[in-house]
Amino acid sequence: MTQQQAQQRINELVEKINYYNYRYYHDAVSEISDYQFDQLMEELMRLEQQFPEFARPDSPTQRVGGTITKEFPQVRHKYPMLSLSNTYSLGELFEFDQRVRKGLQNQPFEYVCELKWDGVALSFTYREGLLVLGATRGDGEQGDDITANIKTIRTLPLRVQADQLPAEFEVRGEGFMSRHVFDQLNQEIEEENQQREKEGKKLLSYLANPRNAAAGTLKMQDSALVARRKIDAYIYDLLCQNNPFATHAEALHYLGQIGFQISPYYRLCKNIEEVFDFIKEWETKRHHLPVDTDGVVIKINNYVQREELGYTAKSPRWAIAYKYKAESAATQLLSISYQVGRTGAITPVANLRPVKLAGTTVKRATLHNANEIARLDLHQSDTVFIEKSGEIIPKITGVDLSKRLPSAPKIRFLTHCPECGTPLVRHPGEAAFYCPNEKSCPPQLKGKIEHFISRKAMNIDSIGAKTVDLFFEKGLIRTPADLYQLRREDILQLEGFKELSSQNIINGIQASKNQPFSRVLFALGIRFVGETVAEKLAAYFKDIDSLAKADKETLMQVPEIGEKIADSVLRWFADPDNRAYLERLKAAGVQLSIPENTTVRSHKLEGKTFVISGTFKKYGREELKQLIASHSGKNVSSVSSKTDFLLAGEGVGPAKLSKAEKLGVKIISEEEFEQMIAD
Ligand code: IVH
Repeated sequence: MTQQQAQQRINELVEKINYYNYRYYHDAVSEISDYQFDQLMEELMRLEQQFPEFARPDSPTQRVGGTITKEFPQVRHKYPMLSLSNTYSLGELFEFDQRVRKGLQNQPFEYVCELKWDGVALSFTYREGLLVLGATRGDGEQGDDITANIKTIRTLPLRVQADQLPAEFEVRGEGFMSRHVFDQLNQEIEEENQQREKEGKKLLSYLANPRNAAAGTLKMQDSALVARRKIDAYIYDLLCQNNPFATHAEALHYLGQIGFQISPYYRLCKNIEEVFDFIKEWETKRHHLPVDTDGVVIKINNYVQREELGYTAKSPRWAIAYKYKAESAATQLLSISYQVGRTGAITPVANLRPVKLAGTTVKRATLHNANEIARLDLHQSDTVFIEKSGEIIPKITGVDLSKRLPSAPKIRFLTHCPECGTPLVRHPGEAAFYCPNEKSCPPQLKGKIEHFISRKAMNIDSIGAKTVDLFFEKGLIRTPADLYQLRREDILQLEGFKELSSQNIINGIQASKNQPFSRVLFALGIRFVGETVAEKLAAYFKDIDSLAKADKETLMQVPEIGEKIADSVLRWFADPDNRAYLERLKAAGVQLSIPENTTVRSHKLEGKTFVISGTFKKYGREELKQLIASHSGKNVSSVSSKTDFLLAGEGVGPAKLSKAEKLGVKIISEEEFEQMIAD
């Protein structure tokens, strides 16, 4: 390969990989399989090693890390990094609003409400489109230069095309670690500790919470380790000379368009009442996000008005942070129960001396898994602190060590299944212990049937968990396939069932035979094959026999299917019992393939082009695509001026949303779409 060819290929690979990365992290779309992606990365790394003179500063290989920084140089912030004044009281927020209105002499104004991410404030400087500096807040005047570390943040563009901004600009945001990654890391520590315990070595301490973990990670000296810890960031600020935008919302919108990750949950509010609504709405909803939040930041939208309001010594007068109170209490741990799920995973639950908390009496708290017990270092009869916010089940946040009796023994996790007595096992890389007796442990069998009939699977809503329990106890069903052999007479014999209710159950089971192939695939309950993966597999293989025949390589060709899923699928189909189970489902007439040609059901969507983004309550994405096609509409993957509708579900891609808004593409919900095709 000549020098020129090498440079050309490096450039090609950088552009290609950066594009796929962007699609994946920004639009949640994988255009190629993980395997193909890894191959491109490997080729690029090889070439960069061979021809280091052509390695580019925006090369995706930088994201993998490898730079060791002994001591982080200090950098002076071009614009000081201020902090916000905090409040826990809506009354004080009301007073803030009064100060703002007075300061603006009753001119009209708007607030922007954003979620307050619980992480680390970061600043990123771009020059001529290239990311040149990443820094921590430090004391607000100067912070640490952690450029090598922040380059591992996958959602942060290494290069941007920011035509509307000056050659140098700065964006700021919050670096964070998702709860999922946090749990995984503690899991790794737990595994290491098990080994150390055996060898009599000193145990490692657990990470206390995702915020500390993010802060610690960003200050690690080896950026390759940082890369493994998957730090992410939401951008919430733009700073530059001659800022071309009049408002914060316009700036956010633009930053989102050019490729920065902006939280999709910010909202413009016309007055303080709307701010209160936002705060109330997110008080419980925030717990469903994968990232910790501790409040809401309320900012004046207009930049000129911000300057009119000015600053105190430490913080702007044009913004304030409202923090949610975590309600907590102390109580005594009475015992621990263990629940067995459908996959055999064992979940420990703490039984507590009843205590009033946030208006309800709490008797139990989740403990997640063995790591959590180890992390808390729980001993019998400990006095524990519990916290609860909104509808979330309370959790134990710590132990009051001053109340622990010296003789209290440490809590040891179960060694055998509480339901069937089988010794528990743990898979490498997973936090949970499992009962491996999947073929006869009763709660696992029942759990599999419950999963099979659930709404997003076969949707047999004429049967509930109680009925499954009863049928199981009476020996009527042992696997989901038995459902299709149930007769009305069998049910009628049972106490409490009449003609009508029995017939209803049978009808529900019969109707499930119309559930599309992807739902059936999901209903099988193969590990790691969730709704989305089931859709991808169904769309790719079209029928169960082709899927059953596929080897690992073929499986990994499917977008978003990695090794873990491929192995799990292979394992499932290799089991003769599962094959026999499938044969019974086939004989019952369940859909085990996608119909050849989508039959045209109407011409209602003729000439209309749709983009689908997000997740939906009733339908899977592939199902929606088929529905669109069957009503003569057209599916495309990206929003353009030719698109008629953006069918937006929960978590719709922010880039798609802003593009649709800009181009005037109509944004519709699942319900609106249903109306379009309704008879
Ligand atoms: S704005 C001048 N917006 O909260 C104010 N801060 O003291 C600039 N934070 O550590 C901050 N989410 O890193 C802003 N949506 C958000 C935020 C946010 C989290 C953090 C910030 C800082 C603290 C404010």
